[in-house]
This record gives sequence, structure tokens and C-alpha cells, in this order.
Amino acid sequence: MEKNIVVIEGDGIGPEVTRQSVKVLNAIAEQFGHSFHYKYCLMGADAIDKTGSPLPDETIEACLNSDAILFGAIGHPKYDNDPSAKVRPEQGLLKLRKSLQLFANIRPVTTYPSLHHLSPLKTKNIEGVDFVIFRELTGGIYFGKKEVNEENTRASDDCVYTREEIERVSHLAFRSAQQRRKKLTLVDKANVLETSRLWRKVVQEMAGQYPDVAVDFLFVDNAAMQIILNPKQFDVILTENMFGDIISDEASVISGSLGLLPSASVGNGSALFEPIHGSYPQATGKDIANPLGSILSSAMLLDYIGLTKEAALVREAVEWTLQNGFVTKDIDSINFYFTSTIGELICDYVANRIPDGVNQHNIELRKSTII
Ligand code: IPM
Ligand code: MN
Repeated sequence: MEKNIVVIEGDGIGPEVTRQSVKVLNAIAEQFGHSFHYKYCLMGADAIDKTGSPLPDETIEACLNSDAILFGAIGHPKYDNDPSAKVRPEQGLLKLRKSLQLFANIRPVTTYPSLHHLSPLKTKNIEGVDFVIFRELTGGIYFGKKEVNEENTRASDDCVYTREEIERVSHLAFRSAQQRRKKLTLVDKANVLETSRLWRKVVQEMAGQYPDVAVDFLFVDNAAMQIILNPKQFDVILTENMFGDIISDEASVISGSLGLLPSASVGNGSALFEPIHGSYPQATGKDIANPLGSILSSAMLLDYIGLTKEAALVREAVEWTLQNGFVTKDIDSINFYFTSTIGELICDYVANRIPDGVNQHNIELRKSTII
């Protein structure tokens, strides 16, 4: 199979984690006889520094013509603390979502037994947690009319949803539930918001088309609590843009490390794959960031282009590293391995180069491969 992949390394630790993913994709291509062609593009603070724009037109153009996009991270502290900055890195990502009509953000939340001790929740509550959040990504308060008066004493952000916007993401969520444990929870604030009442109405109507899926509804404040109290109850969570932003970050800490979680943003054409962590400026360039969020995003990318066997192998390799204690500093602050070493180990696993007895000494010395 031949595919064109746009790579946007982005800001902070984006480049170093994304490079591990590209190595892993190359190992997969080699092993299974595929060719992946990469085109590197700019977005975020990096793009502002180099071109003045957080999302140059060439990047949009290249993404529109690609089969998939692999993205690292966005954001830089110099913009975070300056609310008056006119140009911000995040504008690049928001514009890309809109330009490509990436209307659904999909974030799976799973846990790994070897990391249970790192979770802020009790092990008995997180064993077997496995759910996925479908967040609407191109509507709602993020994209409504924004206003601020001249005196800077009044500001507003409109939250607007149309039936069509609700339906297209909901269909994806329903179909995912059909492939999973057949339960869909709509998270909204229908006791207060008109947009939420529209979501509820549309989803209730659609439920008839998916009779095998059990649908329930939770107010977002209650959902925030339930995700902590009993995360096992969830299978597919469907929600609007802003609620999804917040609860998906909340859910991401259940696994024990934010660095592990992948995401996909999909629409009708090319889709974008990125770890859910941010640009982690303090770790930039130190080769200590966890590359697994990015590598697992590549697994989602492989699934998306129909390479499911390949995706499964990447996930197996990731589990193998975790089970054998090959982890980055966020997981074990004493016995940790470098970002690039984890990337190499996963490539070795994919390429079948793991001998029975792993020579830990060589790995610690960073001798590229483990044999
Ligand atoms: C995310 C991020 C973005 C969002 C920011 C960077 C604009 O937090 O992907 O969840 O709020 O959607
Ligand atoms: Mn977010």
C-alpha cells in the first residue's frame, strides 16, 4: 500500500515524539511492504516564528491532499501568558480542524495493568476501564461569534449547533458503540442550555436507527463526577466541543500517564492523529518525553487507512515495552529510558528483532538496537 502522510512536528516536545512515530511507521512499512511518503509542514508557534502565520496556506493545501496527518503538539509559554497576543499557536490547530472539517475527535481511554499504581484512582476502580470519547470538534462555543467591546468591559462567545453538525458526529459514535459494548452516553447540560436540548432531541431520534445500542444521558457536571467515581460504566461517550475538551482531559489521567493517550480527529477526508498531551516546554529537547501517545496515534492512523494488522502490532509492541519496564521518566523517574530508545525498541519489536533475553545493559547505553 502507498500512502501520503503529512507530518507536522509542531512545538515543544512535538518534534522528538513525532520522530519516534515516523521511525515506527517506517518499520511497519518495511515489515509489511508498504510505502509511506512524508511531507513535513509547519503549524503552531514554530510556524509563527518561521512564517508569521500559525497555519501557512501550504500546510492546509498539503493536508487536503494527504491520506493522513501525523501531528505532534502545539503551544509555547510565550503566548500562554499574554492574553493580548493577536497571533496564537492554537489558532493554527483550530483553523486546520475547520479547514479540513475534522468534526469528530476520538479519544480512547484505556488502562495498563503495569501503570495502575500511577493512577490517581484506586486500582479496583480502574481495572478494565475501556471507553472512548467522541467530541464534536468544529462547532459550539469554540467557533461561535466572539465579541469584546471597545472598553474591554464585556465579552461574549456564542455557542451554536445545527442538527446536521450533531448528526454527523453522532453517527460515528453510534457506529463505534455497535462495534464495542453497545452503550452510548450523551453528555450535555440540557437542564440549562438550548444547544444541549437540541443534542438530546437529535440523539434520541437517532437512537431508533441503532436499536442494538443502549443510550443514556448525563449532565456534564455529573459526568465529571462519574468519570472519577466509576469510569468502568462508560463505553462510548458523545459530547459537544467544550464539554469534550474538559472531560477528555479529566479522563486522560485515569490511565496514570497523560503521555500515553492518542487521539484521532476525523471528518470526510484526510484525518489527523495526535497525542493528547501538550507541548510540555520544560521537557523540550531533553529526550525524556513519552513517545507512546504519538506512537499509539500512529496505530490509530494505520487503522484509519485500513492497516489493522499493522496497527495491532504497534499496540502489541507498546504493551511489550510497558510490561518489560521500558518506560520514560513520567512513568518511572529513576529507572527510565530515553524517548528515542523507546522508539527504537518499538521498531525492533515490529521488525521481530527482540531476542528472548533482552540485554538491558545495551539499552541503557543507548546502543541503538538491543541486540
Ligand atoms: C485539545 C486542545 C485544543 C482544544 C487547544 C490547543 C486549542 O486543548 O486538542 O484538546 O482546546 O481543542
Ligand atoms: Mn484540550
